[in-house]
Amino acid sequence: MQAIILAGGYGTRLAPLTYTKAKPMLPLLNKPMITYLIDALPERVDVIVATNYKNEQLKEYFDENGIEAVINKEDKPLGTAGAVKNAEKYIDGTFMVLNSDIISSINMRKFIQYHFKKKAFTTISLWPVKNVEEYGVVDLRPDGRILKFVEKPARKEAPSNLINAGAYCQEIEVLDYIKEGEFVSMEMEIFPKIIEEGKPFYGFTFDGFWIDVGRHTSYIEVTKILLRKKGLRYLSGESTIHGILKESTVGDECVIGENSVLKSCIVYNRTKIGKNIFMENCIVADNCEIGDEAILKNVVVGEGEKIGKNCKIENEKIWTKPIPDGYPRKQIGNPLSF
Ligand code: GDD
Ligand code: MG
Repeated sequence: MQAIILAGGYGTRLAPLTYTKAKPMLPLLNKPMITYLIDALPERVDVIVATNYKNEQLKEYFDENGIEAVINKEDKPLGTAGAVKNAEKYIDGTFMVLNSDIISSINMRKFIQYHFKKKAFTTISLWPVKNVEEYGVVDLRPDGRILKFVEKPARKEAPSNLINAGAYCQEIEVLDYIKEGEFVSMEMEIFPKIIEEGKPFYGFTFDGFWIDVGRHTSYIEVTKILLRKKGLRYLSGESTIHGILKESTVGDECVIGENSVLKSCIVYNRTKIGKNIFMENCIVADNCEIGDEAILKNVVVGEGEKIGKNCKIENEKIWTKPIPDGYPRKQIGNPLSF
C-alpha cells in the first residue's frame, strides 16, 4: 500500500515562517512536522511525498536521516487531487492520502481496516469542530456512509459539525476520476463526484486529538499538546538556556539569556534571545536576535530578523525583507469562501 502525503502548497497562513521553509519541514518538538505523519503509518506502507514548493529541503532531510520516501515533484501546484494523479505510477492498489498539516491521534491501522470492512470506494477521517466554515463538512449516516460533502460552506449551510480530518483511504479506481496534468481539487471536484455517482463513500471517526497546524495559534497549541503527552514542561535541543521555559520548545545552538521567560513559544535554531525578555505565544525562526528587555506577545518572527532592545510588540508578524519571488500573495488551492 502507498500513502501520498500532500505536502505542496505554500503554507501562506504560516508566513513569514514559510517564506524560507516548506510547511512540512516546520519543526514540531524540534522534528519536522512531516515525520509525525510518516511515523504514524503502518510499517509496510510506501511513502510518496507530493510537493512543489521547496522540495529540496525535504529531500535533504530524508537523505540525511535515512527516511525512505519518494519525493514526487509537481512543476506547478496541481491541487489536492491533481497531486495524487501525478503519483499514479507509484500506486498499485488501495492507497492513502494524507494532508501534511494535520497532527492527530488517528490509528491508521484501524482506519484502513474500517475502509476494507465497509468495502468503501473512498473513506475519509472525520473530526468534530465548531468553525466548520474553514473545512470540508459532511452529512454522515449512522452507518458511516457520507451522503454529502461540502468544502468550506457558509456556517448556516454546513450539514453537520463533522469535518474532513485530512486522511483518506481510497481505491485505485479513484484515479480515473482525476484529469491528468490539471489543477484538480479532491474536496471540491472528486468527493462530490464520487457521491453523485453513488460510490460507497464512508467516514471514520476517532477519539483523542486532532489539530490543523495550518495557523500560528494551532501550531503553538499542538506543540503544547505533544509536550504534555510526553510529560515535558519544555524541550530544548543543544542550546544554552539561562532563562525559564514554560510549555515551549527551543532548537539547537540557541541562547536564552538570564531572567528571560518564554511561555508557549517555539524557537527554531541558532537564535539569540537576550536578557530580561518576556515572550508569550511567539514563534521565532532560525538565526534571529531578540534584544534585551523586549516584551513580545503573539509575535511570529521570520528567519534572520532582529528585534531591538526594549521593543514591545503584540500581534505582529515580523518580516523586513522582500517576500521571496514566486511566493503567492494569497492562499491558493481550496481557499476560504469569504
Ligand atoms: N502536492 C500538493 N499540491 N499539495 C497540495 C496542493 C498542491 O497543489 N495544494 C494543497 N496541498 C496540500 C497542503 O500542503 C495540505 O497538506 C493539504 O494539501 C490540504 O491543503 P490546505 O491548503 O492545507 O487545505 P485546507 O487546510 O484549506 O483544507 C483541507 O484540509 C482540511 C483539514 O485540515 C481540506 O482537505 C478540507 O476539506 C479539510 O477539512
Ligand atoms: Mg490545511
